Amino acid sequence: MTRKLRIGFIGAGRMANEHAGLIHTEPDVDFVAASDTDAGRAEAFAAKWGCVAYTDHRLMLERERLDGVYICTPTPEHAAAGLDCAEHGVAMYIEKPLDLDLRAANRLVEEVERKGLIAVNALQWRYSEAFRRAEALIDGAPIALVNLRWYWTRPPIRWMWDRKIVGGQIVDQSIHLVDVARAIAGDITVVYAAYNERQVNQEDEFTNWDGYALTLHFARGAVGVCAGTYALFSQIQKEPAADFCLRDRMVRVTDKRVQLYTPTGVEEWANTVPLHTGVNRAFIEAVRTGDPASIRTPLRTGLETTAIVLAANRSAATGQPVTVADFLCEETA
Ligand SMILES: NC(=O)c1ccc[n+]([C@@H]2O[C@H](COP(=O)([O-])OP(=O)(O)OC[C@H]3O[C@@H](n4cnc5c(N)ncnc54)[C@H](O)[C@@H]3O)[C@@H](O)[C@H]2O)c1
Repeated sequence: MTRKLRIGFIGAGRMANEHAGLIHTEPDVDFVAASDTDAGRAEAFAAKWGCVAYTDHRLMLERERLDGVYICTPTPEHAAAGLDCAEHGVAMYIEKPLDLDLRAANRLVEEVERKGLIAVNALQWRYSEAFRRAEALIDGAPIALVNLRWYWTRPPIRWMWDRKIVGGQIVDQSIHLVDVARAIAGDITVVYAAYNERQVNQEDEFTNWDGYALTLHFARGAVGVCAGTYALFSQIQKEPAADFCLRDRMVRVTDKRVQLYTPTGVEEWANTVPLHTGVNRAFIEAVRTGDPASIRTPLRTGLETTAIVLAANRSAATGQPVTVADFLCEETA
């Protein structure tokens, strides 16, 4: 009989439920425990998915001999929870961004690599059929311009209104587009950003910026822009997009499809499964086999992408371009 994989959750809110919904049909997955500092959330999750509730994840890790843990807490708790999992030698799926504190995030990456643990950062776009077809369509060809766009509204979850916890839209949301851009167009070397605030969102508890304009330089020669806003309404754009402009053709990747624009028309390929499916399957497969081959976004990739978006925040604060490699060195020294 196949041994069951003992899976746990730290943070039992929206994303934990989303991931549980995607993996509960795997025949060898057993949800064993969930921990949330909010006892009601922990108990509701445990009742829904048939597992044990905890309010202290360290106790859960000590008692439950887990094979894999999903870390779905607010962002500033990610690295600390990851280090606790590493101490117990448990594989981990960590929500993005890796953490707002790059020093703590780097410590986690080093510990995970030293111990050879299975670990994935949830940059799920890289696992989609659309992304993989875009990679093949572009196949390293020269790119003139990368245009990233995410129109959005005030985040539906209230702690995400606070820039100290969430880091703003580029860090929390457009990180997916930035990650797609660097995966396809190559390393991002320098960022230059301008944000504004209190233009349209004037609630006291809304401390995020309203509009985000980011310029990107790529090592291979492309230039890029990333535009985003929390000004609008959720119906405005169901499909955040990454456009790659090549000679006489454009490849557009969204969370739902990829399109190829040429002088003769537009070809389109839609994703056949929800966006988070691929990364979840990759994680479970890696836990099952002990082989990380299915993982496209190990924690080091998450650290690098998180450094780019936090460098954008530094640039917006100082008004100066920021060299990403220097920023990462400084922040992890
Ligand atoms: N990959 C994606 O596309 C995607 C989408 C949305 C959110 N996220 C990320 O997922 C993470 C969770 O977001 P969410 O939308 O599920 O938020 P949420 O508020 O619904 O869930 C977070 C849960 O963590 C709990 N919590 C807080 N501190 C904790 C701690 N120290 N230990 C255990 N539990 C703790 C909260 O009580 C809450 O139940 C965030 O980092 C967010 O950026 C990723």
